[in-house]
Amino acid sequence: MIPSTDSFLMRLTGVARDVEACLEALLSNEPRSGEMARPDRLLSAMRHAALGGGKRLRPFLTVETARLFACTGPGPLRSGSAIELLHCYSLVHDDLPSMDDDDLRRGQPTVHRAFDEATAILAGDALQALAFEILADPATDPDGSVRAELVLGLARASGLGGMVGGQILDLAAEGRYGEATLTEGEIRHLQMMKTGALLIFSVEAGAILGRADAAARAALRTYGRALGAAFQVADDILDREASAEALGKRTGKDLEKGKATLVDHLGMEGAKGECRRLVEEAQGSLEIFGEKAATLRDAVRFVAEREV
Ligand code: IPE
Ligand code: IPE
Ligand code: MG
Ligand code: MG
Ligand code: MG
Repeated sequence: MIPSTDSFLMRLTGVARDVEACLEALLSNEPRSGEMARPDRLLSAMRHAALGGGKRLRPFLTVETARLFACTGPGPLRSGSAIELLHCYSLVHDDLPSMDDDDLRRGQPTVHRAFDEATAILAGDALQALAFEILADPATDPDGSVRAELVLGLARASGLGGMVGGQILDLAAEGRYGEATLTEGEIRHLQMMKTGALLIFSVEAGAILGRADAAARAALRTYGRALGAAFQVADDILDREASAEALGKRTGKDLEKGKATLVDHLGMEGAKGECRRLVEEAQGSLEIFGEKAATLRDAVRFVAEREV
């Protein structure tokens, strides 16, 4: 991929490998402490959803943010993997026939295609519960107040006022619940909820684990907001310009479904300009960290200029 440096891509690949191993362990056949059993079909569907694909960008952001504060131990990888589980659940439900009705995800049949719709719904439910379990587990951080803050943050980022809330605004914007014409501000708001919230929290989780002070937290929040916005504009651009083979998911579907995107509002060139502006904003917010934040600076460029 052209835009990012080799060392950045090596770091991203390295964290993705660690995340894969962590998820593999969490989704093994062996019941975890407190579980009565792991039903085969459900576990297989969860594994299909979570293993062997994806950029693992959210855990990467958690790990790299925690690294700014020299935070070591299993916390960042476990927390990032929990966020990835939540993200995978959101993709399984996003692809359902009643939602975006997609057949292809990460180059594989979507979970409801490979299994069935009921199994896909349940796999999403169980991935979500597992995400919260991992954050609440003392193995993630010995300090109960840190774990509580992580759980609270993920709940807020993923629920009614975050990702799920954004998902219903996205469906409503298709016009399925009545006439809907969104302003540019409303589209930005919808996107900040459906995609931004979880990306912002991915960064925030690293700051929580790193015991960051208020000034660092504020700077990272600005970074997360700009990165989250850039991420969804890039996703909408790719939906128009990339191929299903390259992306591993169907393309051209936003136009077909009448989704509200900034590409419609600003035009393709306008949307690309907006992405560049957001990269600068995100990078500017990292100034207080100096050279230590080089990887996070590269990360937002990667997000905006990615080809997958
Ligand atoms: C896709 O997210 C869904 C959106 C939030 C737009 P990613 O592009 O991070 O998907 P994976 O995890 O790499 O497959
Ligand atoms: C999905 O947005 C956002 C969430 C899963 C929360 P999209 O519907 O644009 O994602 P893709 O394009 O299917 O990956
Ligand atoms: Mg969607
Ligand atoms: Mg979708
Ligand atoms: Mg999309």
